[in-house]
Amino acid sequence: MSHPIISAIEDRQTINLFDPSHDISEEQISDLVRLATKAPTSFNLQNWRFIAVRSPEAKARLRAVGWDQPKITDAAVTFIVCGQLADHEHTPERLAPAVEAGIMPGEVANGWQGAAKNLYFEQPQRSRDEAVRSATFGANTLMFAAHALGMGAGPMSGFDPDGVAREFDLAENEIPVMLLAIGFAAEGNWSQKPRRPLSQVLQIV
Ligand SMILES: Cc1cc2nc3c(=O)[nH]c(=O)nc-3n(C[C@H](O)[C@H](O)[C@H](O)COP(=O)(O)O)c2cc1C
Repeated sequence: MSHPIISAIEDRQTINLFDPSHDISEEQISDLVRLATKAPTSFNLQNWRFIAVRSPEAKARLRAVGWDQPKITDAAVTFIVCGQLADHEHTPERLAPAVEAGIMPGEVANGWQGAAKNLYFEQPQRSRDEAVRSATFGANTLMFAAHALGMGAGPMSGFDPDGVAREFDLAENEIPVMLLAIGFAAEGNWSQKPRRPLSQVLQIV
């Protein structure tokens, strides 16, 4: 029997058509985001934020800046997955729980702060790249958590980032990386599409 993670990777398809009559509870939303935050981030910075757009009013506001995509309002919830610009000054706070738990020595945490400073301080492109990486990992984990709980997910980059930032009061250091509609699939979704052959995408050196 295949491992459940392999089965999920093989079986998942992007959901475009959602059953609008299904809702999900705040508890289910919290559960999904708790699982999403298990994704790894550089220096365990956890430089992300998940805005769960669930009320009809907020969904309509998001759809207006989301290319009018129907899944934004049809899905039970549409997440705005935000990445936060990577900042070495956040490492002490983000690493303290690992030091307190005895997972990581304090001097290593200090070393990581220095390394993070070398990487990101006055490096806006790297800092932004890291925000996009973190949010993408978070969104991917959120997508598979939804799959495991019997729901489907539709990622979207078709939205106006400035409009989303304005409508949902994103902070200066936050980038709306992806919208992720999550809910119960309606009839008529496409199966997972074929992928390019490995000969085109894999290089072994
Ligand atoms: C980053 C990203 C952005 C996407 N943006 C949109 C979008 O704005 N609207 C849409 O309908 N589908 C969007 N898609 C869905 C893709 O078309 C879909 O995931 C792709 O065709 C693969 O589908 P499959 O995994 O079901 O085979 C997006 C997917 C990703 C990963």
